[in-house]
Amino acid sequence: MKMFNIPMHNQEMTEAAAAHEKSLEQLTEQLTSCNVFDPEDFQRYHVKRGLRNSDGTGVLAGLTNVCNVHGYVLDEGEKSPIDGQLVYRGVDVTELVRGCIAENRFGYEECVWLLLFGSLPTRAQLDSLRDVLAYYRELPEGFIEDMILRAPCKDIMNKLASSVLALYAYDENPDDTSIKNVLRQSLQLIARMPQIMVASYQVKRRYFDHKSMYVHSPKQEHSMAETILRTMRSNKSFEEEEAHLLDLCLVLHAEHGGGNNSTFVTRAVSSSGSDTYSAIAAGIGALKGPKHGGANLKVIEMLHAIEEGVDNWEDDSQVKDFLYKLVSKEAGDRSGLIYGMGHAVYTKSDPRAVILKENAMKLAGRKGYEAQFRLLDAVERLTPEILAERKGGDKLICANVDLYSGLVYEMLGIPVELNTPIFAVARMAGWCAHRIEEIATGGRIMRPAYKAMSSPKAYVPLSER
Ligand code: COA
Repeated sequence: MKMFNIPMHNQEMTEAAAAHEKSLEQLTEQLTSCNVFDPEDFQRYHVKRGLRNSDGTGVLAGLTNVCNVHGYVLDEGEKSPIDGQLVYRGVDVTELVRGCIAENRFGYEECVWLLLFGSLPTRAQLDSLRDVLAYYRELPEGFIEDMILRAPCKDIMNKLASSVLALYAYDENPDDTSIKNVLRQSLQLIARMPQIMVASYQVKRRYFDHKSMYVHSPKQEHSMAETILRTMRSNKSFEEEEAHLLDLCLVLHAEHGGGNNSTFVTRAVSSSGSDTYSAIAAGIGALKGPKHGGANLKVIEMLHAIEEGVDNWEDDSQVKDFLYKLVSKEAGDRSGLIYGMGHAVYTKSDPRAVILKENAMKLAGRKGYEAQFRLLDAVERLTPEILAERKGGDKLICANVDLYSGLVYEMLGIPVELNTPIFAVARMAGWCAHRIEEIATGGRIMRPAYKAMSSPKAYVPLSER
């Protein structure tokens, strides 16, 4: 007697699935074997891997007035480390943040003006920008229903990218790349991102997590940070201190030079003459990567792995042992990376991490997150020595902004799925400023070269292969 009566139909399906799996494995092997280079060839042909020079500095790809990411000085060709500086249109972000805190003002809108128009706004200019962002905030009629509700997506970054692409269809003048038209599109995108993000999350929550969904309308007079907190929370309420901390995150993530992966991608697509929605959607896709914006999600996963794997969080030697396991790919996501550490430009410090850590600690005490902040502080202190020992070389490794941003979002009750999307919401200002700069000043399609390495093969007719 048969134990289970599997219908013939299902058995066939199982066999077909197994055969399919096997052929995928075989093709994967073939793919892997045809995608190999001798590592020495990269040096032989002077390939700038990762578009980097041999000392790790980025290949110079353009000029920009938008931002300066300053992490070292070159002294007779030698890199000398310095404390990192982030400068938006000539204004040091640390000063900008200090000014906003001193006057108890929200800073993100000021940043948007500064990044787009090149100087700090007057009171009247700031008020007019707030008005225009409030005016543009409303999504096109039917957009939430047709583009978000009807097409739930597990990953909010993918949903942001597809929503931005979809906005093309609702724009009466989408392909016009005149500065005036791109400015209009940019302001609309900046204003609309929070709503698109929150709606995408709510739909994901309902469809995939089977939880209630709520769609709150934003308030005209609210800042970007307040809009996010109000529309994201079921009871629409938030403390002023929470909104100011989120605003700080938005300011610190608004821009980071032309060479960061997503901005470079946005500039590259812009250089081909493509439309705003295509260029920005590409940038969002790049930001999703765990080596870029996606690192803030990875830090939280790593933090939880450390919490579970280390008995006494206050004991540096135990934390260090676990970090060694991460680097040796024996723990965490087995990538060998300690997320939230290291930076392509910053050496001694990432100013964003310094500012965020300092300001977040105040709220952490009140919200009961002190122990976790101390654990991240231990990661920051202990990692440089571990990486120096394992990787060799004398490159300084500092904490980057992502080490602390994920925990700040958790403390603000922001779901982990929105860690990277919030980065995208903030970075829209920087992407748009760079796109406009590329259109106005670039003038030439970006087109690097790849050395072809394949040896000639004779064409063989299909019947003879
Ligand atoms: N954990 C483990 N190894 C790291 C590391 C980290 N956080 N940061 C750098 N390294 C390694 C690199 O993998 C590289 O090793 P390899 O020579 O065996 O390939 C070596 O140290 C030197 O890398 P470096 O030149 O300093 O880094 P990069 O400029 O190529 O990359 C980052 C910069 C940010 C991508 C890299 O530091 C990283 O992956 N960090 C973790 C992810 C992260 O936090 N990203 C957010 C960036 S804001």
